[in-house]
Amino acid sequence: MNILIVDDTRLNLEYAKNILIENKIPCHIFLANSGIDALQFLSSKRIDIVILDIVMPEIDGLEVLKKIRKDKKHNNIPVIMFTSLTDKQALKKSFEHGATDFINKPIEPIEFISRIKAAIRMRKYEMHLNETLNTIKDQNEELLSLNKKLQETQFYLVQKEKLVAIGQLAAGVAHEINNPIGYVSSNTETLSKYIDKIKTAIYKYRELLDCLNETDIQSKEIENRVAELYELKKKLHLDFILEDIGSLIDDSFQGLEKITKIVQSLRNFARHDLENDFNQYDLNDIVEESLLLIRNEAKYIIDIYKNMEELPLIFCNRTQLGQVLLNIMMNAVQAIKSQGKEDQGVITISTFSTKNHVVCEIIDNGPGIPKNIIDKIFNPFFTTKEVGAGTGLGLSISYDIVVHKHSGELLVNSELGQGSTFTVKLPIQKISS
Ligand SMILES: Nc1ncnc2c1ncn2[C@@H]1O[C@H](COP(=O)(O)OP(=O)(O)OP(=O)(O)O)[C@@H](O)[C@H]1O
Ligand SMILES: [Mg+2]
Repeated sequence: MNILIVDDTRLNLEYAKNILIENKIPCHIFLANSGIDALQFLSSKRIDIVILDIVMPEIDGLEVLKKIRKDKKHNNIPVIMFTSLTDKQALKKSFEHGATDFINKPIEPIEFISRIKAAIRMRKYEMHLNETLNTIKDQNEELLSLNKKLQETQFYLVQKEKLVAIGQLAAGVAHEINNPIGYVSSNTETLSKYIDKIKTAIYKYRELLDCLNETDIQSKEIENRVAELYELKKKLHLDFILEDIGSLIDDSFQGLEKITKIVQSLRNFARHDLENDFNQYDLNDIVEESLLLIRNEAKYIIDIYKNMEELPLIFCNRTQLGQVLLNIMMNAVQAIKSQGKEDQGVITISTFSTKNHVVCEIIDNGPGIPKNIIDKIFNPFFTTKEVGAGTGLGLSISYDIVVHKHSGELLVNSELGQGSTFTVKLPIQKISS
């Protein structure tokens, strides 16, 4: 503890110093006999307590006190004013400017020591407080950096989970695309055969025209050629072909449209630059898009029923909600499959709106969720699937998206042995015009 005693009377300085030494106060003592001296000590040494005479030539105690309190480094050290009976007015001012205590002059050893001890205690508390504050600051900084790392990790995990999901879906999507590609190419093949036949017929018609052009031609000849043409028309099924061409082309266009949609859904799902892309969307479109991706996973084992009412648009992030629906649908498919039952599983997807919300319910007739784990399913990394099969992030990410990013609700209701219902409830916001 470094104590600075400031007084322009040498005798007072020595007397005060002796009292401290005699009473074995554990401290280093510095003596200054003017205000200027005192300020020099304060700028060059770490001072913990100042005992400050009020009346001094040049810079008096009050001025020194003001300077101490202005200086950030010293503005909270205890400053005890040395005062004689005649200084009462100045003492009052000192307190107004932040003095901590006072000691009467002439010095009374008992009073002097007890005041000094009190100041030392106060200084120690304060130093302890500062240390604690600094530790808290450090810990806070550490927490902030850990939090940042956690966010980065979460982002990485979300991306990783997406990739896993995309991997799982890729095979299904390939299969799903295969079907329309199959009939588009078979239609194209048929169309090319049709075109050959049409060409053959057109050549014959041309020959007939040429023949009609020749004036000396026998009418018998014309008759023969016309008969030949009728024969060919029958043989090549030209009437049927002409009728069929239109529907073949329509079918092919539909197939191509389907492929485009599937590829688009997959692309939307994989994109992460759409993180902040909030806009007005129809939840039914997002449900359809997710269904396109899930359908093949469910094929032959699960019937999917849709019960979708017309919905008002909602302000939302399409990619994120697509991910939520996909996670929930995928869980339903996986839950039904995990039972390994012979009979067909059923997933019903309903959408409807209430006064303030649009709602999507995904109901499965899977195994249901046991009561003792239902409170945990939204926790990050909670999974009942085998190691490597599930990350346990699907529902926690979905919860974050619905509840925190869309101010909605994600609810679950489940009956063991009967199945589960997941409900996504999203607020309808007024479209500001
Ligand atoms: N429809 C459901 N039926 C039965 N259990 C379910 C259903 N949906 C979720 N669960 C339970 O909740 C757990 C957590 O689901 P969540 O989607 O968060 O992770 P996961 O499916 O295990 O793994 P991931 O989604 O990362 O592949 C699942 O392991 C499962 O036990
Ligand atoms: Mg899941």
